[in-house]
Amino acid sequence: MTDIANLEPAAVPAPEPAIAPHGRKVFVKTYGCQMNVYDSERMGDALARDGYVSTDSPESADLILINTCHIREKAAEKVYSQLGRLEKMKRQRRLVGGDLMVAVAGCVAQAEGEEIIRRAPVVDVVIGPQTYHRLPEALTRARAGERVVATDFPPDDKFEALPKATDKTIRARGVTAFLTVQEGCDKFCTFCVVPYTRGAETSRPAARIIEEATRLAQAGVREITLLGQNVNAWHGLGGDDREWGLGELLRRLATIPGVDRLRYTTSHPRDMDDALIQAHRDLPELMPYLHLPVQSGSDRILKAMNRRHTAADYIRLVERIRSVNPDIALSGDFIVGFPGETDEDFQDTMRLIGTVFYAQAFSFKYSRRPGTPGADLDGQVDEAVKSERLERLQTLLFSQQRAFAAACVGREIDLLIEKPGRNTDQMVGRSPWLQPVIVDAKAGKIGDIVRVRITETGSNSLYAAVT
Ligand code: 5AD
Ligand code: SF4
Repeated sequence: MTDIANLEPAAVPAPEPAIAPHGRKVFVKTYGCQMNVYDSERMGDALARDGYVSTDSPESADLILINTCHIREKAAEKVYSQLGRLEKMKRQRRLVGGDLMVAVAGCVAQAEGEEIIRRAPVVDVVIGPQTYHRLPEALTRARAGERVVATDFPPDDKFEALPKATDKTIRARGVTAFLTVQEGCDKFCTFCVVPYTRGAETSRPAARIIEEATRLAQAGVREITLLGQNVNAWHGLGGDDREWGLGELLRRLATIPGVDRLRYTTSHPRDMDDALIQAHRDLPELMPYLHLPVQSGSDRILKAMNRRHTAADYIRLVERIRSVNPDIALSGDFIVGFPGETDEDFQDTMRLIGTVFYAQAFSFKYSRRPGTPGADLDGQVDEAVKSERLERLQTLLFSQQRAFAAACVGREIDLLIEKPGRNTDQMVGRSPWLQPVIVDAKAGKIGDIVRVRITETGSNSLYAAVT
């Protein structure tokens, strides 16, 4: 399951080159989930080894790399119109004897493949999420005049083939880091494109993950978020020759010196096993926050979505998790207006939200994604009805979010300071429950974990003072 906490496009800086630079500059634009952010960083590492330096202005770039997301409606059309604008830029460059290379990566690249080359003459390289390690080679071929489409699912492990980030790069990226441990999805929820764009579920080996986490911690990272479309489906052979699940992996990662905080996202309710639930009881490093999408509170709709659990199963699961750690903040994803959703089904979702109480949530109107079973179902819901339901749902979720934030006031927490605030006399970190927290700059420096008391709620953040 993809997490869309970060749907706003984010420019990911490519790291410093490990070899003598040839002077080429790359501008990377990332859309979509945190897994795309992680992938952009890995591609940035590969390009840095190839001599590229990063730039945050497309105008000065020799290569523009767009890492795309396919989860939303018209995602591909938006990419095509962006490519149209780049086409113009390339033409202008050529008029003055310069050039521009354009590479499209990510889930739109995977889904559209050759079609991108046909429709967007500006594009030199189309590269799917499983082939990022081949990006430097694809660019070399493109420079020789070829237009390259690399969207197969090769047997080689891209993470192994991709170069590691240097310490300097890791430090430049901050004290929190993403680490992809699992990719792909075999769940085939009937609304979702992910099983088609990211392929079958695969887990990275435990040893590689431990190695990467150790490197991150040695370079100064204090909080690691494990990523996967179905992160809690992660499994692998552990150091003790037993098959581990995510709970065991988290236990092991928590022992790495310097790994002070762990998070993971996104989880499927069916993969929440006892070991993982117990990790929330036993590991102080594991932050009390769980993104556990349910999508709907109606059993009829859950069945049509192929979620393979009922609303009652989900509520029981939440109770089990809260019984080991009552302090846990729950977050979820919701879809309104899935084909066939009646007012009554929608009321079931509202009731489930009332029962569970979410600290944070993401909600969407169902959008028809060609190629998914949901797109062909009868009973597509009217847009106006979807909008009206979404508004009611978001009002409820937002009131819960505000109530959760208000209940934090007066609590003492450990705050990891991540970056300077908007005002120079402020610093910003995250609460254990993932809310942004603003403190006085004198509270500490980036990377410090300081004891603070939450004093006030802001519109989207909390204010705190050193205790
Ligand atoms: N329509 C609406 N929302 C969707 N999501 C995924 N596919 C669709 C779709 N076709 C939402 C789900 C998922 C989140 C990442 O995006 O809630 O959990
Ligand atoms: Fe998540 Fe279902 Fe999509 Fe898999 S198919 S990524 S479980 S929403």
